[in-house]
Amino acid sequence: MKITIIGTGYVGLPSGVGFAELGQEVYCVDNNAQKIAMLQKGEVTLFEDGLADMLERNLASGKLHFTTDLPFAVKQADIVILAVGTPPHPVTKEADLQYIEAAVKDLAPHLSGYTVVATKSTVPVGTGDKLEKIMRDINPSADFDVISLPEFLREGFALHDFFYPERIIVGTDSERARKLIQQLYLPFKNSRLVFVNRKSSETIKYASNAFLAIKLNYINEIANFCEKSGADIEEVALGIGLDSRIGSKFLKAGPGYGGSCFPKDTVAMSYMARQWGLKMPLVDTAIAENDQRQIDMAQRVLALCPVANAKIAVLGLAFKNGTDDCRTSPAVKIVSELLQHNTDITAYDPQAMQTAQTLLGDKIKYADSAEQAIAGSDIVAVLTEWPEFADINWEKAGQTMKHKIIVDCRNLLPMAEIERLGFEYHGIGRGKK
Ligand code: UDX
Repeated sequence: MKITIIGTGYVGLPSGVGFAELGQEVYCVDNNAQKIAMLQKGEVTLFEDGLADMLERNLASGKLHFTTDLPFAVKQADIVILAVGTPPHPVTKEADLQYIEAAVKDLAPHLSGYTVVATKSTVPVGTGDKLEKIMRDINPSADFDVISLPEFLREGFALHDFFYPERIIVGTDSERARKLIQQLYLPFKNSRLVFVNRKSSETIKYASNAFLAIKLNYINEIANFCEKSGADIEEVALGIGLDSRIGSKFLKAGPGYGGSCFPKDTVAMSYMARQWGLKMPLVDTAIAENDQRQIDMAQRVLALCPVANAKIAVLGLAFKNGTDDCRTSPAVKIVSELLQHNTDITAYDPQAMQTAQTLLGDKIKYADSAEQAIAGSDIVAVLTEWPEFADINWEKAGQTMKHKIIVDCRNLLPMAEIERLGFEYHGIGRGKK
């Protein structure tokens, strides 16, 4: 089968490489010629574990192509997957459809033979109808179906989630599209392939992410409760997570959620509801509480600084471990808040130094290692859950600090061990403050 994927970002690139790995002929299209040139040379343009090797292998096999020539790639395709960005509108925060509408306007004239056009980007409910109308107006004789094929890839784990999806949701009423998709997903024997109508599929994506965002807010609220009650959030999370109706995942208290999905999708869902005169208080509260959480975390660090304009070492800038992505990163938002009151900040992140610099510029200093950031500091703030931060030789690192204070916003470090080393350790939700 020939697949064309438009957009080579965090969704399009792992998906394209993944389909090539499964033996499909894949054309990845992007209008960024520089990015395409890099990919053609086998240079990955984003960090995802395992992506570089898989990209190289499939370029060598001749199954994977990168091009800026959208017409050519569309003419080849049995399926065209739309994986372009749908960022929040800067003012209204609704999902901005300019890029996906431009993509379908570009591709419509070049459809040849029956083609399935699949929206993988997260789009407001009803967008499939809108895109279908745009294409039919441009090319009335084209033979195609527009389907919803939402992605559920977690950044940092995109290839894992591509090859081992818990479910594949397909929004279509077309029997022909259904047959083609069933053929495409034959290798995914252990995944549930679920066919629903297009609007249900578009809604599932938002409802899924909004629920996870609410669940994260809930555990952070319980962490606050634990700080007053004297309980330990790690133990409480373990205890409630054993109830299969709650489940143990997404119960890790932290500085709030970030990334390019939850913040965008919750706001977009609330916007859609408001257009229909509907309130979504749970989603709206999750949005507001999550935004406030980074401010609260920054205030905690500032309150624990032992001296004026303390030297703060920040460990982690990406929105979570496993990725270089700093879009709506809680760590970056906390650093920005700290900078309102403190100017001596040195940060280290294993993957996100470059992406963070585009956001923070020279307002902070960037270390080459965690140890270098820690040296000479008055306080360390752990903001991203990179496992390597727990592997630091904290006994040695502590000796290089002016004051041995740690604010662990991810409860990443072993509290008892760190306190035994003589640190003043502050986790979140770890009992009475
Ligand atoms: C999410 C959804 O999980 C994925 O299904 C969807 O397709 C895209 O959006 P992603 O945004 O990549 O994926 O990250 P995810 O792993 O879900 O984490 C989101 C945020 O929540 C991160 O900032 C992470 O640090 C935080 N988080 C996650 C917690 O604070 N605690 C947790 O227990 C889990």
